[in-house]
Amino acid sequence: MKEKLKEFFGNIEKVRGFRAPGRVNLIGEHTDYHLGYVLPCAINKYFYFYLKENKTKKIRIYSENFSQSFEFSIDKIEYNNDYPWTNYLQGVLKEIKEKVGDIPGFDGYISSEIPIGAGLSSSAAYEISVSYGLKEYFQLPLNLIDIVKLSQRAENEFVGARCGIMDQFISAFGKKDYALLLDTRSLEYEYIPFDIKSKDLELVIVDTKVKHSIAGEGYSKRREEGEKALEILKNYLPINSLRDLDEEGFILSQKVLPDPLKRRVEHVYKENIRVLNFVDALKENKWEELDKYMVESHNSLRYLYEVTCEELDFLFEKAHEFYAFTSRMTGGGFGGSTINLVPSKMLNLWCQKIKESYKLRFGFPPDILILEVADGVGEIEL
Ligand code: GLA
Repeated sequence: MKEKLKEFFGNIEKVRGFRAPGRVNLIGEHTDYHLGYVLPCAINKYFYFYLKENKTKKIRIYSENFSQSFEFSIDKIEYNNDYPWTNYLQGVLKEIKEKVGDIPGFDGYISSEIPIGAGLSSSAAYEISVSYGLKEYFQLPLNLIDIVKLSQRAENEFVGARCGIMDQFISAFGKKDYALLLDTRSLEYEYIPFDIKSKDLELVIVDTKVKHSIAGEGYSKRREEGEKALEILKNYLPINSLRDLDEEGFILSQKVLPDPLKRRVEHVYKENIRVLNFVDALKENKWEELDKYMVESHNSLRYLYEVTCEELDFLFEKAHEFYAFTSRMTGGGFGGSTINLVPSKMLNLWCQKIKESYKLRFGFPPDILILEVADGVGEIEL
């Protein structure tokens, strides 16, 4: 890496490097934008951002993954259709400018080892590495929560993807060997011990390698359905989000809402409870209960929220058939990945069987990643 950086920056004096991790979500899916609970952990796959002040008003950025350079003035931030990868950076800069004023120009080098489209939040890691790196380098008066919020806004408003806050939050706040219970309404959080090695388990991500074209559209559609359901329920209940539903409210929702809205609400209501049950099981060291909640979550995403797909359902079923400790889809759905905990001693055989059966069914093998639970954003030594 040093050689590549020398080539780009001339010399690496004054260059600093930052990295932010991708994430997997253990449970609490499609709950964050309803202000509910999520339980993600950060993974040891990172987005890297290196920078050096250049004493101009220009930003010169190079993407290793795309082998492309792009230059723009800090005064002229605009959405770019020809270089879509620059929009995450531009969106973050726009938010930073609005919050703390102008920042100096810089040369930047970005590279990512998080597969794109696998549902591991490469875009949140991009935003967090850049916003955190800029804050540290230029000593901007921002804290970690500011970084998270402005990164989410950049994605929502500039890039145009209406994600919740989970991915940016965990990329910033992740902790090695812990999952993070986040209440997305209050932003209160708690680290929950999640030391899989002590249980002789491996964290395995199986990437379907498909991204169904309805992914972005399907995600927004689910959000809109949630908003519609909320509007109707507000006629009956004093609530501001689906998260505010208590048991009585939930029972009422099932009487007054039409299908599919009532199924969407059922998912959100029960998924929030599952997150808390899952956390209790972890805290009480009752790992044998985890699979039950994971299976319920997957089936709820399949039949009630309807965001899985053939490939995800197939992997979920095969994972269990080949004796995974637990498995379910993770992330937004409509493609992307499953998260699996697999007994260490069966790892190779399990991966081989999953690969073979998936290939036989769909004609190409999935990608398999064996991951560790990692720390959130930070500076790296050059
Ligand atoms: C995507 C979004 C998150 C969250 C998940 C579903 O990853 O970026 O905010 O909504 O989908 O749980």
